[in-house]
Amino acid sequence: MSSLPSKTPQQTEVIMTELVLPNDTNMLNNLLGGRLMHWIDIAAALAARRHAGRICVTASVDEISFDKPLHLGDVIKLYACVNRAFRTSMEVGVKTTRVEDDGEVVANTAYLTFVALDDDRKPMPVAALIPQTEDEKRRFDEAGMRREARLRHRENIHTLREQLHSSHGE
Ligand SMILES: CC(C)(COP(=O)(O)OP(=O)(O)OC[C@H]1O[C@@H](n2cnc3c(N)ncnc32)[C@H](O)[C@@H]1OP(=O)(O)O)[C@@H](O)C(=O)NCCC(=O)NCCS
Repeated sequence: MSSLPSKTPQQTEVIMTELVLPNDTNMLNNLLGGRLMHWIDIAAALAARRHAGRICVTASVDEISFDKPLHLGDVIKLYACVNRAFRTSMEVGVKTTRVEDDGEVVANTAYLTFVALDDDRKPMPVAALIPQTEDEKRRFDEAGMRREARLRHRENIHTLREQLHSSHGE
């Protein structure tokens, strides 16, 4: 574990506000999925950087769901914060909402993994993240489960690929 001073998820929080403009939309005047993914990546990178105090790169996007369409003229907010820090990597959760007159509607959630880099662009250890609230503790636990599932998935793909290669006599 790193000897850097620990942080709380709240200390990593980033809130980004965007207005959906014509250039951000498809033929249905809905926000392009790719544009939303770009904004999610930026918000998440800033949260990871707040935690690590270093440049961080996107290592993977675990899960992204488009639950509600977002439209031309919508004001949207992206809430990003680090859910859990591992050794050199961190899981960042991003929630996207549409701002309405009487509140906000959740439109999208995503989980991304970022890795902190040193001056030689090599992965470097990050501080511990200590969850405080019940929600933060739940996200911390779920981040651990997603990491396990991701590592298992990579291992399974690796094994399957090796089996395919050997069955083709390579
Ligand atoms: C991410 C990157 C720095 C990892 O480098 P690496 O040499 O594979 O590093 P390691 O094997 O030592 O792994 C370092 C950490 O990254 C994590 N990691 C590596 N590949 C990962 C992946 N595909 N998904 C999630 N985490 C990953 C490891 O689990 C490890 O985490 P830990 O230290 O917390 O246990 C490297 O793959 C890279 O530079 N990728 C390109 C990043 C980029 O350009 N992103 C922009 C999007 S195009």
